[in-house]
Amino acid sequence: MDITTRSFGKYKGVEYTEIIVKNDVGDCLIFSDLGARINQWLANDTINQPRSIVIGYDNAEQVFELDSYYYGATVGPVAGRIKDGRFDNNGEMVQLDCNDGKNHLHGGRSSWAFRKWDYSYKVENGEAIVMFTLVDDDKDSPYPGNVKAEVTYRVTNIHEWFITYRIVSDARTLINPTNHVYFNLNAALDRPIDNHSLYVNAERYLPVDEEHLPTGEKLPVEGTPFDYRTDQILAPWLNANHPQTKGANNGLDHAFELASGDGVKAWLYSPTTHWSIEVFTDQPYLVVYTHNYVDQEGKIAGIPRLKHAGITFETQAAPDAIHHKDFGKVVYEAGEVYESTTCYRLYRNVKVLDED
Ligand code: BGC
Repeated sequence: MDITTRSFGKYKGVEYTEIIVKNDVGDCLIFSDLGARINQWLANDTINQPRSIVIGYDNAEQVFELDSYYYGATVGPVAGRIKDGRFDNNGEMVQLDCNDGKNHLHGGRSSWAFRKWDYSYKVENGEAIVMFTLVDDDKDSPYPGNVKAEVTYRVTNIHEWFITYRIVSDARTLINPTNHVYFNLNAALDRPIDNHSLYVNAERYLPVDEEHLPTGEKLPVEGTPFDYRTDQILAPWLNANHPQTKGANNGLDHAFELASGDGVKAWLYSPTTHWSIEVFTDQPYLVVYTHNYVDQEGKIAGIPRLKHAGITFETQAAPDAIHHKDFGKVVYEAGEVYESTTCYRLYRNVKVLDED
């Protein structure tokens, strides 16, 4: 394990840093203190050329100028939309900023995705640990409370990236973070993810309205483009004649209610590289978003942005959980600790989805 740092460039006079982790099996994961992001996950192909399986920016300026997509970012304090940017916090109405039409999205203008985080790193038991911390106080954001967030990344020698959140506030508030990493296992950004196969261990999904807010229903995936209980090639489903995929501009932008237990919650495979990833999480929902819009042009690593350039696996309580019953826990009392872990595990050249 080897950990080094380098500049991620300056924006408005503030300097940002990348933390570069190289494990002993050829992976290189590059994180940054700008949004506690993952910028790159490079793995070696069959001729030992490093290829990135995630989408990330080249420098801090690109993040601030081009990122309505939240590439690789720690999104918080609350991921997804909050209807009308408003909620009742024990009798007190809290109004958040509305940065997505009439609604609040991904933590709004003071989102954790665009904040400068403190960081530290070490190698422990042969694993790399990179810890990001942020104090998000009352003055920084419209959410109640002074919130202390710790996001710890752990990189192992079996191609795993673990994310652990530990968050606590000194007042009752909402907490529901996620990481917004987009995978593309073709390991080439000019080849969209339509050829990938997807498995999601979910019996139900949450349909959305025209503002992409959950309607409140939980519908069976059976017989819909949301049924990934056996792995499915994405292309036909993204283009299916179904109001929910059509409403997402031919794509997925939906929460899946995950089966409980410790098993694989989602799996993604590219027939081009034969690479796959498994997703593990203790969170109850998975938001899958297939980069359905290109509303800001711009080149990433020299390649023009494409529709379906990547696919996210946002582990969390469901979007807009504050306004619905049984959408997962999002309200935290003063001093109550939020803790959760998600792991992405890469396999190269082997198809590893267990049939059971
Ligand atoms: C949301 C999308 C949004 C995207 C980029 C996803 O998590 O569900 O609706 O467009 O993030 O902001």
